[in-house]
Amino acid sequence: MEVYLDNAATSWPKPPEVYVAVDSYMRDVGASPGRSGHRQAMEANRIVYAARRELAGLLGAPDDENIIFTLNATDGLNMALKGILQAEDHVITSALEHNAVMRPLMGMADRMGIDLTVIPYDPILGMDPEAVQKSIRKNTRCIVMTHASNVSGRILPAEEMGRIARKNGLILIVDGAQTAGALPVDVQKMGAHIFAFTGHKSLLGPQGTGGIYIERGLSLAPWREGGTGSRSASDRQPDFLPDALEAGTPNTPGIAGLLAGVSFISAKTPESIHKHEQTLRERMWIGLTAIPGVHLCAPITGGDTVGVLSFSVEGMDPGQLGDDLDRQFGIACRTGLHCAPHAHRALGTYPDGTIRFSFGIFNTVAEVDYTVDAIRQLICG
Ligand SMILES: Cc1ncc(COP(=O)(O)O)c(C=O)c1O
Repeated sequence: MEVYLDNAATSWPKPPEVYVAVDSYMRDVGASPGRSGHRQAMEANRIVYAARRELAGLLGAPDDENIIFTLNATDGLNMALKGILQAEDHVITSALEHNAVMRPLMGMADRMGIDLTVIPYDPILGMDPEAVQKSIRKNTRCIVMTHASNVSGRILPAEEMGRIARKNGLILIVDGAQTAGALPVDVQKMGAHIFAFTGHKSLLGPQGTGGIYIERGLSLAPWREGGTGSRSASDRQPDFLPDALEAGTPNTPGIAGLLAGVSFISAKTPESIHKHEQTLRERMWIGLTAIPGVHLCAPITGGDTVGVLSFSVEGMDPGQLGDDLDRQFGIACRTGLHCAPHAHRALGTYPDGTIRFSFGIFNTVAEVDYTVDAIRQLICG
């Protein structure tokens, strides 16, 4: 049996429609969107706008123009943080952040002297709203937080943070890399000013796709300037969305595939996808806890996790166990620190890290049972 349990890194397989969309874009459309006026270019434009509309619908954004395409979530988060923060600003973040948030923040701390408060992990609340409220200062500019941990699967209280941000005039930036497509998301209800998503995980698109939702009226210093196909006589970047933040030829074949992925999710509904992944996660959790020496790094919890589960095994190296799963049982997973050393420190699994299983829409109960059995054989012999 071949089992792919590394969907939090990148989802695989994709729905057949995604392969078809990329292939037919490359063969039949091919042109650059928003540049020329011929039929192929108009078709490219239509596809990009259809993808914007589909994503706006999925994420609860009021307008298509609120969706900006980037290379991935990392690119979108850099665009947001570097477009907002200035020297001496104070930022509040969670203890569960991925390096996509921590490295830009630390880089800006080193280069520009921004100041950072990391709210300690709270096993009950995930991120304690009271602790956030108490850490707000005169120079606090934004709260930036992951919507769900890519290590433990824990969902953080983004709506609470949205309320705090709005009440205190702060900007809320949410890293939705692990939630867009995996969970019902409503960026307006959440109160997010910016919500970063990646195309190749739960949105089921190709790698090299992603973007941000940005609230109308919020302006970012452009992080990438250049040709947009609009106002070409001007040597200044257009000031309207999405062109203000989208310079250069996009990954249009990827966006065509992303459109197919998001359409697939919208038809299935994020609610039912979340439910399916929860069923698998809970079954895995129950199976693994019955094996001696296994330490799960998050509680079983149903509603407040995505389909990600991490664990360690007493006296065993996670990397070795991952290799054995791959070579002996055909099971693909991820081991180590998952680009989130801060999260491992918070969860007590630093520096060795964990073994991470992450589920997708195409995983099955039989695969979970097979994997639990494989772990039992590797540990108990
Ligand atoms: C929580 C979180 N944020 C950000 C990222 C970065 O995503 P990408 O590599 O697609 O930019 C990841 C990917 O692993 C993630 O899990």
